[in-house]
Formats: sequence, C-alpha cells, structure tokens
Amino acid sequence: MDAPLSPAYIRRAMRYIGNKTRLLGFIRDVLRTRGIRPGTAVDPFTGTASVARALKRWGFRVLASDIMEYAFVFGRAYVEVQPPLDLSGLADELGNPSPTLRTTIAYLNRLPPAPGFIYTHFTPEGEEGRRHGRMYFTPENAARIDAIRATIQRWRKEAKIDDDAFHVLLAALIEAADRVANTTGVYASFVKTWQPNALRPLRLRTPRLLPGNGCRAARRDALELVSELEPFDLLYLDPPYNTRQYPGYYHIPELLALGWFDGPVHLRGKTGLLPDQDKRSDWARRGRCEEALEALVARAPCKHIVMSYNTEGIIPEATIRRVLTSYGRRSTYEKYTLRYKRYRSDSDGENRRYRGDIVEECLYCVDR
Ligand SMILES: C[S@@+](CC[C@H](N)C(=O)[O-])C[C@H]1O[C@@H](n2cnc3c(N)ncnc32)[C@H](O)[C@@H]1O
Repeated sequence: MDAPLSPAYIRRAMRYIGNKTRLLGFIRDVLRTRGIRPGTAVDPFTGTASVARALKRWGFRVLASDIMEYAFVFGRAYVEVQPPLDLSGLADELGNPSPTLRTTIAYLNRLPPAPGFIYTHFTPEGEEGRRHGRMYFTPENAARIDAIRATIQRWRKEAKIDDDAFHVLLAALIEAADRVANTTGVYASFVKTWQPNALRPLRLRTPRLLPGNGCRAARRDALELVSELEPFDLLYLDPPYNTRQYPGYYHIPELLALGWFDGPVHLRGKTGLLPDQDKRSDWARRGRCEEALEALVARAPCKHIVMSYNTEGIIPEATIRRVLTSYGRRSTYEKYTLRYKRYRSDSDGENRRYRGDIVEECLYCVDR
C-alpha cells in the first residue's frame, strides 16, 4: 500500500477500542525503517483485523487471531478468505444465474424486517428490551438485523454458501449494525435518546476482499497460540492497554458473530451481557498484564517483534523495555512514537486516565 490512507478508508473502519486503521501508515513506515520485509507474520490480538489485513496487502502471509468470535469473523473475512467467493448456490433464491458479492449484499439489504432475537432483547419494543429499558437499536433496524442474520444462517445450514461466504456476509452485518448502534462507540452502555446514526437505516456495504494466499485466522488465546507456532518472521502485538474487558464492551458484535440458533442464550444485566468468563483477559488486568507479556515474548519463535502500546497503557514502559531487551537483541531495541488526537467516542468508561487530547501511540521494536 503505497498511497496514504484515504479519509474514506479510515471512515469505513469499525468503532473499536484500539483500532489501528489510522496508524497503518506509521506501522508501515516503521517496518520499512527496520528493514522488515514481507514474510510470515502473526497478529494474535487482531480485533478488527485492520493490521492483519494491511500486512496481507503488503505481501505478508498472516495468521490473524483473537479471543473474540467477532474478531475471528473479521480475520476469516478480511485475511484468510481469497476472492472470488463461490455464491452460485444462491442463484435460485436471488433469481440471478451468477450472484456476486455485490448482488448478494444488495439482496440482503432488501430483505423485509423480521423481528427476532435482537429485536426482543435490544430494542424498547422487544419484551426483554422493554423490561430493561434497552435502546441499542431502533425496532426497525433490529428487525432487519434479525432478518439478515437468520437468512445468512439458513444459507449456511442449507449449504447454499460455504464458510468463506458465511464469514464475509457476517462481517458485513456486524460492521453495518455497529454503524447504527445507539452507543458512543462501545456497547457497555446505550444512549438514552436516539442518536442520529441510530436513526439511519441499516445498510450493509460490500466488503473489499484482498487476494493473497496462505493467510489464516484463528480464535485462540494469544499465549496458547504463539506457544504452538513454528518459527515465523514478524510478531505484531497489539494487546488491550487498559482494564476494560472486551467481552463486556462488545457483547452485541459477539452475539451477532456467535448467533443464537444452537440453543437458549442467557443474557444478564441491564445491557444484556453474555457469559464471558473464558474471554476475560489477563492483558486487561493490572498485576497480571506484565507477566502475560513476559510469558508471550519468551515463547514466541519469531525474528522481529513490533508491539503497539500507548502512553496511557497499564504495562509500564520500563517493563516493555525490560521484557523486549531480555528476550531480544538489546542493540536492536527501539521505540517509535506518533502523537495523534484521541479517539473520543469511547469516553464513557471509568477506568481511564486521560492526560489531554493528544495520545502518544508507540511501536516498541526488537529483533531476536
Ligand atoms: C487493542 S485491541 C486490538 C486492536 C486491533 N489491532 C485493531 O486494529 O482492531 C486488543 C485485542 O486483544 C484481544 N484480546 C484480549 N485478550 C486476549 C487474549 N488473551 N488472547 C487473544 N486476544 C486477546 C481483544 O479481544 C482485542 O480485540
């Protein structure tokens, strides 16, 4: 990717704590400065897959992984899957002898609303939503999300689409739902009046898929994953940097990714949380995150480590330096810094230590 990122590309990025879309140019420049050429790369905290997708575009063979199911969906859709998709099984249903991704997305966008799980639990008109006063989606948008999610599920069950198409369509739905969610950017709470974005009609966009062979996606704990890998070139680390646990902040994208078709799903609390004990992360716990970093770096069989972290993170910089220089060649250790304006839409949490509007985003690098 040689052209600078266009504002349109940046605007397309999902609202996500730690999303690195705006920092891709910085990451690419640091890789170039350090002479890190395309090879094998692992992104074990892939989130929206923004970096893994860019690495794929820059010619790396990437493994994108995360503990969350929605991140696995993004990893599959944007990193592992290779275009073109086989959508021929939809020919009869779409009344089109050769459906493309664009015509399939257009079909899903035309489906009539069909109130279901999301309508029931996350709108003020649904039984559960009303009981808890939830206003995550307008009833109309929720019923369209339900219609599209159920249709994608049925297509997969009837083998009209394969797993590749399933994950690509699901990624498009999760991103579209996020654009009309009545939140300030995270799902830990909803806004008590309808925000302008929530009142817009849900509209799926056609995902842009990248050619590129041999990339993979996984849903694994980072330490478990990295411990089992054969030697590879680049380890890109972007762990959580504060004490917010992603399962509680993104439970609705997680629900959309997991579905509710295989048995009863029990939601709890005012916001309708999923059971998430298995996904709560040591990386977001003071007192455990430093140990987690050391264990992972010690076990990673890689040539280069590039770690994103920002100046408000819970792992002290001295620890990052100590760990990277203990397990890497001390003389190759370097910190690169970019100052940028804070992403404000995640400003509703309590565990934040804001130090003004400018955040320093750092890349800590070492070679082994
Ligand atoms: C800062 S975000 C990564 C953002 C990503 N680079 C992007 O641009 O979207 C941190 C990610 O780490 C994931 N995570 C937290 N603990 C994890 C663990 N133990 N193993 C794997 N992933 C984990 C979270 O689900 C979250 O997606």
